[in-house]
Amino acid sequence: MARLPPAQAEQPTKPLLCTLAGLPSERPPMWLMRQAGRYLPEYRATRAQAGSFLDLCYNPALAAEVTLQPIRRFGFDAAILFADILLVPQALGQGLAFKENEGPVLDAIRAVGELARLDPKGIHKRLEPVYEAVSRIKGELPPDCTLIGFAGAPWTVATYMLEGRGSSDHAAAKTWAFGNPRGLDTLMDILVQATTDYLDRQIVAGAEVVQLFDTWAGVLPEAEFRRYCIEPVRRIIAVLKQKHPQVPVIAFPRGAGALYEGYAAATGADAIGLDYTVPLAWARDHLWNKTPVQGNLDPRLLVVGGQAMAEAVQRLLRSFPGRNHIFNLGHGIVPETPVRHVEELVRLVKGTETAV
Ligand code: CP3
Repeated sequence: MARLPPAQAEQPTKPLLCTLAGLPSERPPMWLMRQAGRYLPEYRATRAQAGSFLDLCYNPALAAEVTLQPIRRFGFDAAILFADILLVPQALGQGLAFKENEGPVLDAIRAVGELARLDPKGIHKRLEPVYEAVSRIKGELPPDCTLIGFAGAPWTVATYMLEGRGSSDHAAAKTWAFGNPRGLDTLMDILVQATTDYLDRQIVAGAEVVQLFDTWAGVLPEAEFRRYCIEPVRRIIAVLKQKHPQVPVIAFPRGAGALYEGYAAATGADAIGLDYTVPLAWARDHLWNKTPVQGNLDPRLLVVGGQAMAEAVQRLLRSFPGRNHIFNLGHGIVPETPVRHVEELVRLVKGTETAV
């Protein structure tokens, strides 16, 4: 058999990697944020077996198992590592617990002096089971399925570290941003280093793509968005690109609104995740023509299902035809989602050709 010239030999074959490389496709590759989770009975069973959510995150065999459950059931084009964005603060030395029906609770950082206790060099000792989960998943992945590693973006992780819990107004983090920007810069430096090292190790263990979740990017005014959302993400991607130029980075600055424009160029992200409020026609003209986009079906439509979901899916597929689109939700799946609606969604996306 004739050998392929090097350029062709290096072309990706997995659907998600092809789309991230800008290649055309018959249908968009698909996966769903939070695809491993409480809406799946097999997830609930494995989580009960693990004991608690954090025990599940730190158990490589069980974390690999829940990562693969939605792949077996739905045949998604990507598996996302099962872990949580708050493992990084815990690895830095901050107390973390997940309380039933309450979400995460951390020992809130109240003063700049407390930042000295965070140790970015020591994180791998605690995070080793996550890297082991990555390599186990990689070994069991179907051949066309891509493994996505992830971390929280520094700003979003900082909101939890400073507030001590989820918050509706992000008062603590915004008070640092406006009142103590040098202090917040110090925390950003720590998180940039820890997050870069964490993602580097996930890639070394087998992650083929990484995603940065900036869930709370949408709560900052423009100047602070540039300083605390764009700049730290840019620094992380710059180092990852030096070490692993072939590994695509997806960034999800949820709620960025008009600041989505220029975000990919400013951060160096290869693709951008769109939240469900981003207008499709605007995204098509301002983002999709330059950069692959991921999203953005409202997760609540997946709960409702039926005609409402089917129409929204068709609108989405028609808006981004033929290339540069990764089918996904505009935020994570919610626990009350019926499994049969996810099955229907997969049929709608896989059964529809969107050739240009
Ligand atoms: O997408 C996946 O399937 C991979 C796993 C994943 C989880 N969390 C598992 C999880 C990912 C990528 C995350 C990211 C994450 N975690 C984000 C960013 C994305 C987003 O949803 O905005 C944030 C902000 C967190 C922090 C977090 N983790 C919160 C606020 C909560 C509580 C809310 C909730 O849904 O319970 C979690 C818990 C969590 N992380 C669960 C799962 C499956 C539920 C825990 C359980 O089993 O009880």
